[in-house]
Amino acid sequence: MTATLPSPGTPGTNNRARISARTFRKDRWWLGPVLTALGLTAFVVYATARVFQQDNYWVEEHHYLTPFYSPCLSASCVPESAVFGTLPWAFPWFLPYALISLPFLLLFRFTCYYYRKAYYRSIWQAPTACAVSEPHDRYTGESRFPMIGQNLHRYFFYAAVLISLVNTYDATIALAHGENGGFGIGLGNLILIVNVVLLWCYTLSCHSCRHVFGGRARSFGTRPVRYWMWTQVSRLNTRHMLFAWITLGTLMLTDFYVMLVAGGTISDPRIFN
Ligand code: FES
Repeated sequence: MTATLPSPGTPGTNNRARISARTFRKDRWWLGPVLTALGLTAFVVYATARVFQQDNYWVEEHHYLTPFYSPCLSASCVPESAVFGTLPWAFPWFLPYALISLPFLLLFRFTCYYYRKAYYRSIWQAPTACAVSEPHDRYTGESRFPMIGQNLHRYFFYAAVLISLVNTYDATIALAHGENGGFGIGLGNLILIVNVVLLWCYTLSCHSCRHVFGGRARSFGTRPVRYWMWTQVSRLNTRHMLFAWITLGTLMLTDFYVMLVAGGTISDPRIFN
């Protein structure tokens, strides 16, 4: 009787080409994964340091709140920064002030289709790159615990929409705190607004968002509005990777700017009032 080998790439099998070399590729296939790992690591290090700093997150004069602390929920938050109220106790150093939103934002990004591709290749190395053998013996995909949890991404999307609304509120209310207490615009307002617009671009370009508008529809023929919205989301979706990277940068930049102004290192240049 002849044994039948499973097809190459069958989950749970070790059916790989029997060659000793890791790869025959001569190009710099490792460059992309290395740069990706460096970029993700830089963001994680910066965000972790800032989230646990519990300081320089709020500019009283112009109501600038960094997105890393929004909504601010510790009883020790500056009262004006906690526009949605606080919990009854002051958080110890190991709890971020944005205790509710940050875990969902983290899970939203962690389970994002693009970031999965990024860290599967660059950090987990499954797969490392096309035609490069990976260090793992078995491949089970996302069919088992814990990776099956990646399917929760569609629910984290709704949480991300709510948090984007909160960030939008933060950026909007800051416009009502100019030098004389009325409407005003400073460089910080522009940074907050650009950040929130790009956050919306990232959130709405999510694959789950595309499914919300276009999924399960047998035909768009009788749904012109839904078709229009699905088309717009699909356009954004083609740039999802770009928005994923840009928003990592704008989040850090926005936080860094607020930190500098809040700490008195720089003052906020005013454009109007
Ligand atoms: Fe990237 Fe949903 S696929 S955020």
